[in-house]
Amino acid sequence: MKYRHIGILSAMPEEIGTILEDLEDIKKVNFGDLNIYSGKWVNKNNQYIYLSIAFSGWGKVSAARATTRLIGNNYKNIPVELILFTGVAGSAQDDINQWDIVLGKCLIQHDMDATPLFDKLVIPPLKQKELIPNENILEHLFKRLTNNDLISKYSKYGKVKKGIIASGDQFVSDQESFMKILSNIPNLSAIEMEGAAFAQVSIQEEIPWLVIRVISDNANEGSEEEFSEFVKTYKKWSHQLITVLVESFI
Ligand code: ADE
Repeated sequence: MKYRHIGILSAMPEEIGTILEDLEDIKKVNFGDLNIYSGKWVNKNNQYIYLSIAFSGWGKVSAARATTRLIGNNYKNIPVELILFTGVAGSAQDDINQWDIVLGKCLIQHDMDATPLFDKLVIPPLKQKELIPNENILEHLFKRLTNNDLISKYSKYGKVKKGIIASGDQFVSDQESFMKILSNIPNLSAIEMEGAAFAQVSIQEEIPWLVIRVISDNANEGSEEEFSEFVKTYKKWSHQLITVLVESFI
């Protein structure tokens, strides 16, 4: 599965890590406070791919805005052909732990509620609540991550899992909020603040997309401390995951 130009989005610089340092021939464009860095990424076999990378900031509005800008970005006259959102998330299940990787097989906006006009969680312009990525891309990346030495053997990363990811404009750090989200979405794997907004824009703009999250905390009491500590360490490791993501599409 090959692409010429991939867009990579994270909410925070720590989630992108040092991948920007690997780019050649960097072009930076900015839209107000949003910077998009594009460049050429070359692997050990001298194959290359163009990357456009940005930090959106936290939350659904920031994610939607950055996604739209990133999709519209060209580099050397090649448009972005696939867009990935990667970063950290809180766990929604006891058997999903810190450093496990969740690939979003379905994204849901857990704070969308246009009842009684629409069913709970349904996104009105799409008339659906479940945002589903292209299955071939999901399977392709799942196989690459599960068979990858960088991820499985020599690193801190844990299990790789396909799961439901919910997004909302809330950092979840108490039992009541956690249970409310879980009661609406019982099979939930991970909770974060951007992925489902990114997915909505990608679907509406008709560009292939995928969300890849690494578990940082339990999305429950004390999650703010777990999250803050995790992100400091993750900054050093995100490069490894992003390298595998990029290699998978070259
Ligand atoms: N991203 C990482 N951890 C989170 C949490 N607990 N709530 C919302 N977004 C998160």
